[in-house]
Amino acid sequence: MTILDGKKVSNDIKEEIAVEVSKMVANGEKTPHLAAILVGTDGASMTYVNAKVKACEKIGFNSTLIDLPEETTEAVLLEKIQELNTNDDIDGFIVQLPLPKHIDEQKVLMAIDPDKDVDGFHPTNVGRMALDLPTFLPATPFGILELLERYDVETSGKNVVVMGRSHIVGRPMSILMSQKRKAGDATVTVVHSRTKNLADITRSADIIVAAIGISEYLTGDMVKDGVVIIDVGITRVPDETKKAGYRLAGDVDFASVSPKASYITPVPGGVGPMTIAMLLKNTLLARERHG
Ligand code: GUN
Repeated sequence: MTILDGKKVSNDIKEEIAVEVSKMVANGEKTPHLAAILVGTDGASMTYVNAKVKACEKIGFNSTLIDLPEETTEAVLLEKIQELNTNDDIDGFIVQLPLPKHIDEQKVLMAIDPDKDVDGFHPTNVGRMALDLPTFLPATPFGILELLERYDVETSGKNVVVMGRSHIVGRPMSILMSQKRKAGDATVTVVHSRTKNLADITRSADIIVAAIGISEYLTGDMVKDGVVIIDVGITRVPDETKKAGYRLAGDVDFASVSPKASYITPVPGGVGPMTIAMLLKNTLLARERHG
């Protein structure tokens, strides 16, 4: 069993980006600049956004964190987005999800200039992704493809089961892995909350991407020997033995699944760090595309 070490691979990618940034700066070009909007004080979102900003600093990007209170109106948020759209100093930006319930998420994502949409969530970019045109791939699926590629995991002709159909992970993952590409050319099945005989389907999978948001849902009896496991889940599970009062769990029961797996991502240290690295990669791309 091989651990797909997202922490190590993401560090490699960040180093590669840092080299690019130093070259750009040495050539008198502008430093890439990522902005992130966070609305409210959701613990997990704050952790993720802070990690993104910190990663920018580490590799030599400029970063701006726009921290808005929970009560922020949709109109004010849309104004902030317009400011970032028209600010030439910002190459790319993200609005951290989920947003408070009184804000229409789709409306917000549609307000982002597709050329600065480094999360790849704007309908234009989702469409471009589906049509295999140059775009910003959403960071988590992009990170999974990169991890599979760098470990030379064979995907061509394999049965891939994507668990979950979210706009951020499951849906794009299923599209990307069915496309003609490295880490693609797979036969993809999407399973979700209405799927019947789910375990029969997961047991036929060569590769499983678990992105359902239910901690330790996929157990050893649901997979076949030699399966490749990508665990996207990251849930805080109460644990009094931990100083923080919780531990982080994936969607996969690592203890029972890992003995049967040929490759598996750990949680934490698997998909999570890759997401951040690919967001940085998209920001570098945005800088290069803006010329
Ligand atoms: N919430 C969970 N994942 C993501 C992500 O990749 N981008 C944004 N903006 N919000 C998220």
